[in-house]
Amino acid sequence: MKDRIENLLNEINALTADVPEELERLRLKYLSKKGLVSVLFDEFRNIPADQKKEIGQLLNQLKNATLEKIEILKSSFTITEETADQGIDLSRPVAHMEPGTRHPLSIVRNEIIRIFAQIGYTVAEGPEIEDDWHNFSALNFPPEHPARDMQDTFFIAKDPAILLRTHTSSVQIRTMETEKPPIRKIFPGRVFRNEAISARAHCIFHQVEGLYVDRNVSFMDLKQTLLYFAREMFGESTEIRLRPSFFPFTEPSGELDVSCNICGGKGCNICKYTGWVEILGCGMVDPAVLENCGIDSNIYTGFAFGMGIERITLLKYQVKDLRLFFENDLRFLKQFTGTI
Ligand code: PHE
Repeated sequence: MKDRIENLLNEINALTADVPEELERLRLKYLSKKGLVSVLFDEFRNIPADQKKEIGQLLNQLKNATLEKIEILKSSFTITEETADQGIDLSRPVAHMEPGTRHPLSIVRNEIIRIFAQIGYTVAEGPEIEDDWHNFSALNFPPEHPARDMQDTFFIAKDPAILLRTHTSSVQIRTMETEKPPIRKIFPGRVFRNEAISARAHCIFHQVEGLYVDRNVSFMDLKQTLLYFAREMFGESTEIRLRPSFFPFTEPSGELDVSCNICGGKGCNICKYTGWVEILGCGMVDPAVLENCGIDSNIYTGFAFGMGIERITLLKYQVKDLRLFFENDLRFLKQFTGTI
């Protein structure tokens, strides 16, 4: 008898119930008239008198333990008075929650910031609605200069002096106007161009601009900085190549290609079978631009570079269509779960 009581006690202690119906079934199994606990009480009659005291105590313990266990299981289903007052039913299943993910463009922007922070660059931002001076004139785009056609500008309210910035180079100007060299900064931000939306172009996109102004800054510093960036971003075996180019605000100007990280330089449709992909524009800050901002170009030199975050992201994650970045399709965004 003692063993049976002990076994039953262990069994009852281990009980669980997920739904109220199951709990009721358990209650009947142990406590109804023919239940396993009740049956032991029936048998109590036949226990020899000298054992009655001990067995009786054990049986009472068993019964109390069973009642207590049923109460505990029941409380997990019961609405307390307090929660009932608030109309909250704690027994209802919770709505399925999706953990958020960082947008791929934010991931890459943060990575660019991290890479440049390691070599002493700090972040600054400027306004998206700009004036002609900061977006064009101070950057050496003369009025009516055809270079202004390079970037199809959104003007605001027919006032050509106010516009949506077409590049983050405007923040270079704002920084040089207000700070003395040495300046070592990067400027991430959204830019706008009146372009037809396609797999390779959008009217809104993101850039990160870099600027370094100090005594004796040379083209060699620019090249070394870009090599460091390319290898941090695309891997240690990445090679770079600079091609001559033109921007009104840099002289000389260049465009930077990196060895295609998709085919490893062998040739694929991303690099159009050349083994190289263009990732940014750069150059030595034109002395006239330094002077426009009140920096003595006889003492100081500088370099600048600007890259599209979308383009870097396309290459890094092999995304084929830039429109995916703006559609917020969860099937796309979820692929970046777990990436910081
Ligand atoms: N602002 C240029 C563009 O948007 C990029 C650039 C930045 C080029 C800095 C040179 C120096 O195309």
